[in-house]
Amino acid sequence: MISGSFTFGIVVFFAILVFQLGAKSIFKFTNIKCQDHDLNFSRSEVCRLKVIGRGLVSLNVRVGLYKTPVTNVTLNMGFYKKANGFKPFLYNYTVDFCDFVRNRKRYPVVKVIFDIFLSASNINHTCPYDHAIVVDNLVLDEGKFQYLPIPEGEYMLKLRVFAYNDLKATVEAYYYRKMSFSL
Ligand SMILES: *[C@@H]1O[C@H](CO)[C@@H](O)[C@H](O)[C@H]1NC(C)=O
Ligand SMILES: *[C@@H]1O[C@H](CO)[C@@H](O)[C@H](O)[C@H]1NC(C)=O
Ligand SMILES: *[C@@H]1O[C@H](CO)[C@@H](O)[C@H](O)[C@H]1NC(C)=O
Ligand SMILES: *[C@@H]1O[C@H](CO)[C@@H](O)[C@H](O)[C@H]1NC(C)=O
Repeated sequence: MISGSFTFGIVVFFAILVFQLGAKSIFKFTNIKCQDHDLNFSRSEVCRLKVIGRGLVSLNVRVGLYKTPVTNVTLNMGFYKKANGFKPFLYNYTVDFCDFVRNRKRYPVVKVIFDIFLSASNINHTCPYDHAIVVDNLVLDEGKFQYLPIPEGEYMLKLRVFAYNDLKATVEAYYYRKMSFSL
């Protein structure tokens, strides 16, 4: 038997979906913070948002690597939503990044998120990494999120980067989603 709360969840999911089909929404970066934890290993040389046009903001990161080749990378992603400070929201996910770039099909959920960053980066290849890591002019393209049931609000994606199980960097990307009705 299907539980009541499960049915309710499905109804809410489709209600949000239908609601969003009739609405245009805006995703926008509002801030980015990079923190280095081992300056002998890596350093964030660029970590900034750039205004590139009317209402458009792009994200730019460059991280120098000093102990190459890097063959062992683990990422921990946490999503936070603002409500009296940032609270954990939906995902807290840890993934072996070198395995991900080798076997993308095994990671359908993270793939959606990583593809956004990979498309603007120079790390869309298998390990090892022996060059600076660059994310250049990444703009959150609404087309990629249109049908994700993410409510309006302010969010933060916290990315913790480990190499050989040692925390090397933390990146916090802040962004908001806003609806705008234009039916
Ligand atoms: C970084 O390298 C310098 C010089 O080799 C060394 O003195 C320092 O302890 C190292 N720092 C870390 C965090 O490993
Ligand atoms: C997410 O998971 C990591 C690793 O398991 C843990 O260290 C961290 O505290 C978790 N964060 C949240 C917000 O649950
Ligand atoms: C990354 O590279 C793979 C394999 O070359 C390709 O199939 C995929 O479309 C690329 N992804 C992005 C986001 O560019
Ligand atoms: C990555 O390095 C850590 C620490 O040396 C090790 O425990 C882990 O097994 C390595 N992961 C892979 C996939 O080799």
